[in-house]
Amino acid sequence: MNQEKFLFPNNQVISHSSFWEAPSNIALIKYWGKKGNQIPSNPSISFLLSKCFTRTKIKFSPINSEKDPWFTFKLNGKIKLDFYKKIEIFLDRILPYMPSLKNHNLIIDSSNSFPHSSGIASSASSMAAMALCITDWERQINIKMTEEMFKMKSSFLARLGSGSASRSIYGPISSWGKTSHLKESSDIYAVPLKQKVHKIFDGFCNSIIIIDEAEKEISSTEGHRLMNEHPFAKKRFYQANQNFLEIKNSLLTGDIQKFIQIVESEALTLHALMMTSSPSYKLFKPETIKIIELIKNYRENSKNPLCFTLDAGPNIHLLYPKAYRKDVLDFIDNELIKTFPSIKFIHDQVGNGPKKI
Ligand code: DP6
Repeated sequence: MNQEKFLFPNNQVISHSSFWEAPSNIALIKYWGKKGNQIPSNPSISFLLSKCFTRTKIKFSPINSEKDPWFTFKLNGKIKLDFYKKIEIFLDRILPYMPSLKNHNLIIDSSNSFPHSSGIASSASSMAAMALCITDWERQINIKMTEEMFKMKSSFLARLGSGSASRSIYGPISSWGKTSHLKESSDIYAVPLKQKVHKIFDGFCNSIIIIDEAEKEISSTEGHRLMNEHPFAKKRFYQANQNFLEIKNSLLTGDIQKFIQIVESEALTLHALMMTSSPSYKLFKPETIKIIELIKNYRENSKNPLCFTLDAGPNIHLLYPKAYRKDVLDFIDNELIKTFPSIKFIHDQVGNGPKKI
């Protein structure tokens, strides 16, 4: 694993301000289990979203006194101390690759397009946005950095903050984790899927059903850790590789039935792994199961290619081609909202990538 290209030993001090928007992503093949310094146990692949994003502005200025804090962090204009630990771990992990960061004070101002309490994981979009700002700052000194290197390094840094964040640098489809099924794949940064994807996936829709807005009881980081001793780990990592190949083929050929089968199986496997870890836990709610049944019935009756996936939480991501948008919105109104009036929705679709603001 060649990490040397990411080392940037320059000790220059430079004031700079950088502002980036990075979207969240939804995994089709799930990253679940990691080793060492944020190295995934299996390859993953995801759709980048467009409307669910984090905007982050970082102001870098030289530290003048030892009393100056290394960073301050605000979410929606308010200091958020509960995020400090995660940010400090992130900055400590990236420091070996950019030691001059230690000589700077970072004022980090962040906001999410989705409510923090929506149950949508914000770590992918927020770590990606921070990594983009920091690489942008480095680019002021290292002027030889190409656009390709800029993205690669941003993804490399984002991964050190949160594994899934590495994939938020590339749209519409991005993959992270070494696999023989994708030559350019890597464990230390994500890569975009370069092949032409079938047109059925153009503007693919993702409607997020918010069933529970509470913070999850067990963090993803803890869930990954439980995979170390998991009795099914070896088989799972093998299966993820096989599923990676199958989903890649379905994306290229437009085999939507295969796509549905693998995506749903990945989501259910993720939660089955949680329920069979030691200690065991479950993150879905009774409504999650009921809605999955309604989705399956709807698909069987209408023959419309609507499927679901789940993150590490109770909320459901509906995935469907944009040609079926109206039909799916009718299904949501007529069946889901009638059965569960309190659920909320965010309607999103696959997007192309982060933006500099
Ligand atoms: C279920 O990226 O949140 O969403 O690297 O510990 O920050 P850390 O974990 P995180 O895990 C995401 C797990 C997942 C699947 C996925 O996005 O691939």
